[in-house]
Amino acid sequence: MTTLAPSSFDVRPLEQEDRDQALDVVWRAFGWGYRQDAADDVFTSRSIEADRTLVAVDGSGGDVVGTASAYSLRMTMPGGDLQPIAGVWMVTVAPTHRRRGVMTGLMRRQLADLAAGGEAVAALWATEASLYGRYGYGIASWRQPIEVDLASAAFTPHATGLAAGSAARLRLMSLSDALPYLAAVHDDVLGTRPGTLARDADRWQFLLGGGDGRPPAEIVVALGPDGPTGYAAYRVREGKPGLVPAGVVAVQEVSATDPATHARLWRYLLDLDLMSTLTCESRPVPDPLAHLLADHRRMHARLDEALWVRVVDVERALAARAFAAPVDLVLDVTDDVVPANAGRWRVVVAEAGGTATARRTDARPDLSMDVGDLGAAHLGATSLHVLALAGRVVERTPGAVAVASAAWSCSPTAHTAEIF
Ligand SMILES: CC(C)(COP(=O)(O)OP(=O)(O)OC[C@H]1O[C@@H](n2cnc3c(N)ncnc32)[C@H](O)[C@@H]1OP(=O)(O)O)[C@@H](O)C(=O)NCCC(=O)NCCS
Repeated sequence: MTTLAPSSFDVRPLEQEDRDQALDVVWRAFGWGYRQDAADDVFTSRSIEADRTLVAVDGSGGDVVGTASAYSLRMTMPGGDLQPIAGVWMVTVAPTHRRRGVMTGLMRRQLADLAAGGEAVAALWATEASLYGRYGYGIASWRQPIEVDLASAAFTPHATGLAAGSAARLRLMSLSDALPYLAAVHDDVLGTRPGTLARDADRWQFLLGGGDGRPPAEIVVALGPDGPTGYAAYRVREGKPGLVPAGVVAVQEVSATDPATHARLWRYLLDLDLMSTLTCESRPVPDPLAHLLADHRRMHARLDEALWVRVVDVERALAARAFAAPVDLVLDVTDDVVPANAGRWRVVVAEAGGTATARRTDARPDLSMDVGDLGAAHLGATSLHVLALAGRVVERTPGAVAVASAAWSCSPTAHTAEIF
């Protein structure tokens, strides 16, 4: 790979012979060390969609110096419908070619391709908070990493009774045995919370079976009289030998179809022997676990951003989610990357729970905002009211922020359990 400054670079779709170089760029950029698996195996095990992958190629040497890809995902939107989204990932640039606009070239091309006929909404997890706002992405959901001191993790009397009253029997299972149960529980919860992603067998394998480089997860399934009602996936780390237990329970996810199973699974995780600390990287905000614990202050939490969302096509995106209240407002939207979104839109929601129609208009705007703010509000977890307080959304008609904020909001709050 050249270390000379490139005279130029081209962005184009990945070709078969680019695979090795492209993955080398990804591995180096993310600090994953030396790649041992053959490129084709990595494409398979990570379900990389070759036909949705772009590369930036150095104009002078022809080397691949940047990558961007997208997964074809399906995500629950406010209202409960599952909609296609582009799950953007693999955005990497070779260290030899950084800060020369390669990422910008990739992002612009990817958004142009999507706008020309792809999903109406793109979403991603960002390694750094300052990267994606410039391309029209906004922070659309939040998560909290938590750490619970297990010496003080008693439940409230109510939660104790709830967990004890669960009819579910807990069984530890291998991933292959658990898979039908996990899928059944996931199907049940999928439509109940925006941000939840549909999963196929490969995705379960990747997330819980060690596909992502972590050891396979322990899986405990809650079996009720009529079938599975929940599961938890976690890993335990032995503590250093000492006088008191010092192990760590790292919870990956807990999913349940009823409150009693939910309480029962948490009690199980909090009671594992030889452990002193329970962690989880991504809990919803707010987290019902805080209301099970007698002393919620023992659950140390930090607010963190989760998904960034990009509205690629205003008209189609607003027609694919439900709104909590009727709306008839004119939005003036700026979009420096996808010009078709820019301008005034009359957005009408006829009744609470309905989707929106967005039509071009010359009427006076009620609200002005950047497309990134529309993306931030899209899952209902970032309030337009808060964006207005931050001066990002500007109210042109008194009361418009309150109306829009109520309509765009959603309960329960959006949460995505897995990083893609
Ligand atoms: C992040 C990364 C893709 C940026 O690539 P790049 O080609 O250097 O980015 P560009 O030159 O196109 O810069 C685009 C803009 O982002 C800014 N920027 C780039 N990297 C940045 C960083 N790490 N922190 C803050 N700003 C950054 C640039 O200053 C530029 O700003 P401008 O539009 O105001 O001029 C690259 O540094 C990388 O591969 N990092 C490691 C992997 C990674 O984190 N990828 C993101 C995955 S979510």
